[in-house]
Formats: sequence, C-alpha cells, structure tokens
Amino acid sequence: MIDSFGRHITYVRLSVTDRCDLRCRYCMAEHMAFLPKKDILSLEEIAELADIFIARGVTRIRLTGGEPLVRRGIDILVSELGSRIGRGLDELTMTTNGTQLERYADMLFDAGVRRINVSLDSRDADRFRHVTRRGELKQVLAGIDAASGAGLKIKINMVALKGVNEDEIAPMLRWCGTQGHDLTLIETMPLGEVEEDRTEHYLPLSVVREQLEREFELVPSLARTGGPARYYEVDGLGVRLGFITPLTHNFCDGCNRIRVAATGTVFGCLGHDQRVELRDLLRSGGAASVNEALDLLLAGKPKGHQFRIDAARPAVERHMSVTGG
Ligand SMILES: C[S@@+](CC[C@H](N)C(=O)[O-])C[C@H]1O[C@@H](n2cnc3c(N)ncnc32)[C@H](O)[C@@H]1O
Ligand code: SF4
Repeated sequence: MIDSFGRHITYVRLSVTDRCDLRCRYCMAEHMAFLPKKDILSLEEIAELADIFIARGVTRIRLTGGEPLVRRGIDILVSELGSRIGRGLDELTMTTNGTQLERYADMLFDAGVRRINVSLDSRDADRFRHVTRRGELKQVLAGIDAASGAGLKIKINMVALKGVNEDEIAPMLRWCGTQGHDLTLIETMPLGEVEEDRTEHYLPLSVVREQLEREFELVPSLARTGGPARYYEVDGLGVRLGFITPLTHNFCDGCNRIRVAATGTVFGCLGHDQRVELRDLLRSGGAASVNEALDLLLAGKPKGHQFRIDAARPAVERHMSVTGG
C-alpha cells in the first residue's frame, strides 16, 4: 500500500473493541454508551481484514481498543493473528491498560507477541483510581509483573497531565530503569468526548523534557517508528524514553500507518476525518471491494495532520488507539 505521497503503509493499528473496564478522564466519559455488537467487526472479520492488509504489505499490527483484553475471544484472535508471524507479518503487538494481563500474559507470549505497551499514568493508588475513575493499581502492577515474567518486553505509556502526575514523571522513569521497561510520555490529545476540560491538564512535553534533562542525560536515539514519537536513550538507566507529541506534525512525512476502528472504519490520519467504511464491504463483498476502498483511502491520505487542543472529535475516534510506537 503506497499513498499519493509515496509513503509505504506497513503498520496498522487495529481496534478490537470500543469497550473498556476503565474510564480514564482524558479518554472516556463516566457513563459510556458502547456500540451494539452488530456494529463491531466479528473476530473472524478482524482476521479477514488483517489478512487483506498483510497481503498488501503490512508487516506490523498493533491490537488496541478500548481495552483489547476485555474483548471476549481475544485469545482466539491473538493466536490466529500470531500464526501469520513469519508469513508476511513481522510483528504483532498490543496496547493495553494491563488490568487483564495476569490472566493473559502467557497467552500473548505463546501466540508470538514479544512487546506490549501498558498504560500507567500513576504509581500512586489513589491517583491511579482518580485518573482511571475505577482502576486498581495493584492489579495493573501485578499484570505488568506477569507480562515481564512471561518474557514480554514492556513499554509504559504515561499521559503527562499538568497538576495530576507531573511530579511522578521523573520517578516513573527511574522505576522503569529498575524494571527494564521503556517509557513513553504522551501529550494529551483532543480525542473522544469527555466531560473534562483538557486544556486544564495540558502539559507540553517540551517543558517536561527540559525538566528531565536537568536530572538525566538524554541521548537522541536514531529509532524511528514512523509515528509521532521521538526517542532518547537515558544514560545510566539502560531504557529508552519516548515523547509523543501528536499536536505537532513533525513526522508526517514518514507516516507509515493507518488506523482501523472496531467498527471497521479506517482512518488515514488521526488528525483528519478522511475515512473509509469497510465493515459492510467485508460483509457483502469481500476482499475485492475492501481493496478498492483501501485504494481510495490511500489516494486521499492527507500529507499531515493538525489538531487544536480544544477541538472536539467525533465519538468513533474515541475507539481508536492513538499512541504507542
Ligand atoms: C486509547 S488507549 C487503548 C488501549 C488501552 N486501553 C490502553 O489504555 O492502553 C491507547 C493509549 O491512548 C492514550 N490516550 C487515550 N486518550 C488520550 C488522549 N486524549 N490524549 C492522549 N493519549 C490518550 C492512553 O493513555 C493509552 O496509552
Ligand atoms: S485510555 Fe485505555 S484504559 Fe483508559 S479509558 Fe481509554 S481505552 Fe480505557
């Protein structure tokens, strides 16, 4: 898949559900109306779509949500997709909130997953519950331990929130150093419908980086994922620190990704509404019409994105993962 700017699309982020067991304040409203089952791709349809992508040159798939590990049958899907590793697919990864990892860590490893992103905005139990509105920190930490024990390499995703977890960023980095986890900091993005005023907690990562540089030596890393992240090696800690600043569009030139919502809507760019709807095509026509729609998407994939921090986005985009590398 090559778009009109010559960018090869090799990476797909696939949301497997809009549902979640947490309600992070920057992501979801307290009372969510989730989509009816018929609107969501079945596990078979997700696998079928993944095969179409792989046949067209996609080599990396990241499963996300909502929370991917709350989807019933996720183990079946993961092992199905895992069986494509080495047969077109180079890597299968997942972004998870970690609450179900104790149960699923071995399954992920056995299916061929080697790296996962786990979201963790605070290591203080009360704050964690505040940010997620219901999460139990202990459960997530146990999940992270189980995942490490199973052999999965972990990258912690932490959304930097002014006045909420600002003071925990340096300690989180040190903790990651002791655990051998990489850390990626994420700027809040105007995605999804939430009750909170996001501008209130907006913390520019340029400020965070300056603060961290007073304490740590950050050596720019050559690693590029094609996503909106910049990476540093942290001298002395042996871990990598990433900054995801989606409000800038510095990396759009190398963008190699598209995103698929649980409904089968595919977006060429997070910052634009450009999309194609694949669910009904999958249900009625199969691969040929899906491929035609993908060609249309590629032809119109925007050169770059723009956001405004106060902008409201359509609800469907809440169900897409936006981050991680
Ligand atoms: C949407 S979640 C889906 C996967 C899983 N539930 C999790 O939390 O990791 C993926 C990532 O997006 C981040 N995220 C969600 N809403 C965001 C927002 N408005 N701004 C920045 N990051 C956001 C989360 O912190 C998480 O790291
Ligand atoms: S960020 Fe992830 S864990 Fe938090 S509410 Fe959104 S989907 Fe759920």
